Amino acid sequence: MRAVRCHTLGGPLVVEEVPEPRGGVPVDVRFAAVNFADVLVIQGAYQVKAEVPFTPGSEFAGVVARDGHGFGAGDRVFGSAFTGAYAERVAVPAAGLHRIPAAVPMERAAAFGVSHATAFNALRLVADVQEGERVTVLGAAGAVGLAAVELALLMGAEVIAVASSEEKRAACAELGAHTVLPYENLKRALREAGGADVVVDPVGGPHSEQALRGMRWGGRFVSVGFASGEIPAVPLNLAMLKGVTIHGFDFGGWARHDREKLAAARTELHRLFAEGAVHPRIHAVHPLDEVDAALRVGRDAIGKVLLEVARGV
Ligand SMILES: NC(=O)c1ccc[n+]([C@@H]2O[C@H](COP(=O)([O-])OP(=O)(O)OC[C@H]3O[C@@H](n4cnc5c(N)ncnc54)[C@H](OP(=O)(O)O)[C@@H]3O)[C@@H](O)[C@H]2O)c1
Repeated sequence: MRAVRCHTLGGPLVVEEVPEPRGGVPVDVRFAAVNFADVLVIQGAYQVKAEVPFTPGSEFAGVVARDGHGFGAGDRVFGSAFTGAYAERVAVPAAGLHRIPAAVPMERAAAFGVSHATAFNALRLVADVQEGERVTVLGAAGAVGLAAVELALLMGAEVIAVASSEEKRAACAELGAHTVLPYENLKRALREAGGADVVVDPVGGPHSEQALRGMRWGGRFVSVGFASGEIPAVPLNLAMLKGVTIHGFDFGGWARHDREKLAAARTELHRLFAEGAVHPRIHAVHPLDEVDAALRVGRDAIGKVLLEVARGV
């Protein structure tokens, strides 16, 4: 089978013939999604290291290749893994696979799992967003950011989307964000809007503190990532004076420490997906051979970038 291979961390990726993966449920991949973490894994900069040579890719949708583990050949599924998804076939434990609802196109399923679950868990499990609360999303046109905008709206929140360009802010407004803001003068703009009850922050860097300063009494700040490359250090007096609590969400930690709540949240999110209430935005689809171009989109993406691995599987 053909797969993208990383032979040297940070080095060029190649598409080559490799043996099929063994163990778990074999899935013929139709689309793989590019996730921020994939780029870090390829660079050797992620908190968990992959051993070279390896096939990158952590999210996919496709068709089960053989009966077994509660799945049947031909079942349409989506799922995630640490690596292995940028390939014609991936093999994963059954627990990492979910059936694609009948009405949902496969590319949408490939774009849904990681970003929407991250956003949902930050909003529901961690921040416990209530109807009518004001939710501010940083990096709001990125994959996690757009998912957070969409899901916070579904939860009945008033959404303030913060993004770096007109085009990105227009995409957030089109999705239904009540207010769109640039990063400049963020603290003042948030205060003028009445202050944020919840901040979802996948970006980090200097904007985190400005968003924290723009929160109202009793707010919940949720850090989910550091796409800017900078882990911010915030003055804790802000938390003390504002009665704000600072949280984080990370899949790994929750999977180790509170699997049951994570599973309950997933059930609720997947129900919304099956009902057609959730529509991940796809920025671009590149063929497998253009993996470098797909990975280069980076910050320019509005929503999700996909690799089309095989047609018509
Ligand atoms: N905790 C978890 O379990 C979990 C799960 C999934 C993802 N994450 C993390 O969440 C973060 C965002 O992921 P994502 O999938 O939303 O990524 P993404 O689609 O690339 O979006 C990231 C956003 O961050 C902003 N940004 C600021 N500086 C940037 C830079 N130097 N390079 C790229 N983007 C930059 C951009 O928005 P502006 O241009 O508007 O600033 C961009 O749209 C990543 O750090 C990822 O690792 C965490």
